[in-house]
Amino acid sequence: MKKAILFVLVLAMLTGLCACGSTAPQPAPTQAPVPESTQELAAPAEDATAPEESVEVPEASAEARNAGETNILVLYFSRTGEQYDVGVIEKGNTAIVAESIGEATGADLYEILPADDHYPMTYKELTDVALQEQRDRARPAYAGELPDMSGYDTIFIGAPVWWGDWPMILYTVFESTPLEGKTLIPFSTHAGSGLSGFDRSLAKAYPDCTIAKGLAVAGTDAQNNPDKVQSSVAGWLSELGF
Ligand SMILES: Cc1cc2nc3c(=O)[nH]c(=O)nc-3n(C[C@H](O)[C@H](O)[C@H](O)COP(=O)(O)O)c2cc1C
Repeated sequence: MKKAILFVLVLAMLTGLCACGSTAPQPAPTQAPVPESTQELAAPAEDATAPEESVEVPEASAEARNAGETNILVLYFSRTGEQYDVGVIEKGNTAIVAESIGEATGADLYEILPADDHYPMTYKELTDVALQEQRDRARPAYAGELPDMSGYDTIFIGAPVWWGDWPMILYTVFESTPLEGKTLIPFSTHAGSGLSGFDRSLAKAYPDCTIAKGLAVAGTDAQNNPDKVQSSVAGWLSELGF
């Protein structure tokens, strides 16, 4: 009888130990990229997946590249200053990815800049301004003239995810720049939201364009892990047929 009681006690102790093992602390989930006060607008994390209408893009002609001419443009918006999880940066995360695409494809690069640069260089203030712009459905003006689009067949369009969407200045570009018939390829940098519907909103803005599979790059990788960025850009471009 004593033996039976001892056996039950030992068994209970062992079961307890196993249970402790299985409830060991898990790594914390990725932190939301945005301040608590405005988290309700942050988009849910999302994979960079191809929209249904994705197509392969034909390779740009080698002659055109060699002649210093190209029918490919990389159009992007990016910010320096204090950014999420990377401190104060001198080259924007999206700018780094844009340059990597440019190097790999021989594309021309064009950075969209605000006409009046009212965007703060500190992260918290920038998120406040951006949120207000989104709530107001603002259309912030961009500086200068965009390049003549008639010579480009394929346009990569990239930006940081701001509150789960394109920064509002991109909508100013979309609404003022006809791109009918071209192939548009979205890319984002982000802190967890992935492509965040960039492909879908681009398709809505440009129903007469072909929207190809987009790429999402973590801002921290863009800033700190150039090899990883280069290889994911290369893999993506090769999938697209470049
Ligand atoms: C105003 C603002 C809003 C942001 N909102 C999001 C968001 O909703 N989801 C996300 O994953 N990252 C968000 N981020 C993080 C940026 O997308 C990320 O840091 C990006 O790489 C910055 O790129 P840039 O240096 O080219 O501007 C936000 C950053 C800012 C400044």
